Amino acid sequence: MTPSALDLRRPVFFVLALALGAGLAITAEVGSESPRTAVGGFGCLDPGLDVKKFVGAERCAECHQAEHTTWKASQHATGFSMMHRDPKAKKIAAALGIRRIKTAASCVRCHYTPEENRGRIRARSGVSCESCHGGARDWIEIHDTVSDVEGNDATHTAALRQKLIDRTKAHGMRRPDDVYSLVANCFSCHLIEDSKLVAAGHPTGIGFELLAWTQGEVRHNYLDSAGAQNAETTPDRKRLLYVMGQVLELRSALDALSRNPANGPLHQSLKARANAARQQLGKIVDATTEHEELGGIAQASSTVDLTSAASLGEAVRTIDRLARRLAVRESGKGLAGIDKLLPTAYRGASKR
Ligand code: HEC
Ligand code: HEC
Ligand code: HEC
Ligand code: HEC
Repeated sequence: MTPSALDLRRPVFFVLALALGAGLAITAEVGSESPRTAVGGFGCLDPGLDVKKFVGAERCAECHQAEHTTWKASQHATGFSMMHRDPKAKKIAAALGIRRIKTAASCVRCHYTPEENRGRIRARSGVSCESCHGGARDWIEIHDTVSDVEGNDATHTAALRQKLIDRTKAHGMRRPDDVYSLVANCFSCHLIEDSKLVAAGHPTGIGFELLAWTQGEVRHNYLDSAGAQNAETTPDRKRLLYVMGQVLELRSALDALSRNPANGPLHQSLKARANAARQQLGKIVDATTEHEELGGIAQASSTVDLTSAASLGEAVRTIDRLARRLAVRESGKGLAGIDKLLPTAYRGASKR
């Protein structure tokens, strides 16, 4: 691992990051002591944050032109030329003693896709495909072959495809069927837990809500129409995304609270996020017929003591375990009762 790969990780996690190794996948179910390591997507430990693993959005555009065009118009992409010019950005950077935002690891890790330049990190684009789907160096070749698989024996073909798909995941690709990792990853950026950053005037990320924030400018469902149409997300899928969003909002807020016990604006916003999510989960449970995972999550969230690190840690582990199971078992069909809870206004305008 190079020093530049480490620049993006916070010092506390150095040892852990080294122990995990840059090339290892962290996608498997882990009953880990540190909740962060249990999540494939969390910023500091994500193998996708190894700068050498990013191949750049242009590579994806070779086959995913429509997705690329849609992404280009989103704030994830336009932030590349806008954010560092914003007077608010200059103020935040000045307060933290940062001279160049686009080479400061503490901004690059969330606002940009990184690249290496003479051994140093710098921004190559805004938040891009690989920020969400995982750094692609080790999976892009395998990914390329998935659609080529064919044979006379349908069972054999399906098995081989699945094997290739599993290999892309083992190399850090976050695919749509892995809702847990894909959604958890949003929170590694959209839930700020650096009190210095917040004290410098940075927003905390409060107000993020997964369904509304994936269905507007971020939506890019082009596969079924081979790029012709950005399909509306199905009702079942919307329900699942909404519930996973609330569950992982709660999980991420509780996890961050356990590391930020001191009262202050960050602590207050984390507490507000945790409380809003647990209230919403209560409503979700009321609106659905008995649901093992949701029931367990609601139970853990109603008994957690927000002032005790031990209690927070235990709740996070329980919620994490149940959330992974929920993501695999639930298609959204079992959540039909919650439709009245779903947002109908989305963040940004979706493209054709
Ligand atoms: C050589 C062509 C090619 C390139 C390059 C390519 N893809 Fe794909 N991708 C495909 C095809 C074909 C599919 C649909 C077929 C499949 O996965 O079985 C697909 C599917 C996907 C899916 C959905 C997978 C699923 O489980 O439904 C994602 C996500 C994805 N690509 C992301 C990317 C990203 C990110 C990049 C760039 C790092 C990229 N792709 C580069 C051809 C490509
Ligand atoms: C690598 C960090 C990162 C990840 C991962 C990430 N985002 Fe973002 N997102 C940002 C940043 C930074 C901005 C602000 C960009 C700007 O305005 O310069 C942003 C902005 C947005 C916006 C526009 C907000 C507005 O004010 O209108 C939406 C919508 C959004 N993100 C949704 C998502 C969703 C949904 C996910 C997960 C599927 C996600 N993001 C994952 C960093 C990230
Ligand atoms: C942990 C991830 C993370 C880090 C680190 C981070 N940002 Fe952000 N930043 C975000 C997200 C996410 C948003 C969008 C917030 C939203 O819309 O809710 C954002 C928004 C902003 C905005 C827009 C604020 C506004 O009120 O419109 C500015 C400016 C900004 N960030 C500057 C910076 C600077 C400068 C740094 C480095 C010192 C930095 N950020 C580090 C995630 C991060
Ligand atoms: C902000 C995070 C984010 C970014 C940036 C992003 N994706 Fe995605 N992508 C997702 C999510 C979340 C889904 C799953 C949506 C769902 O299942 O409803 C997805 C789904 C997909 C799919 C499958 C869609 C379908 O029609 O079934 C493909 C292909 C894909 N992404 C490719 C890309 C490419 C290529 C880029 C860059 C040009 C990109 N993505 C950028 C989060 C992101």
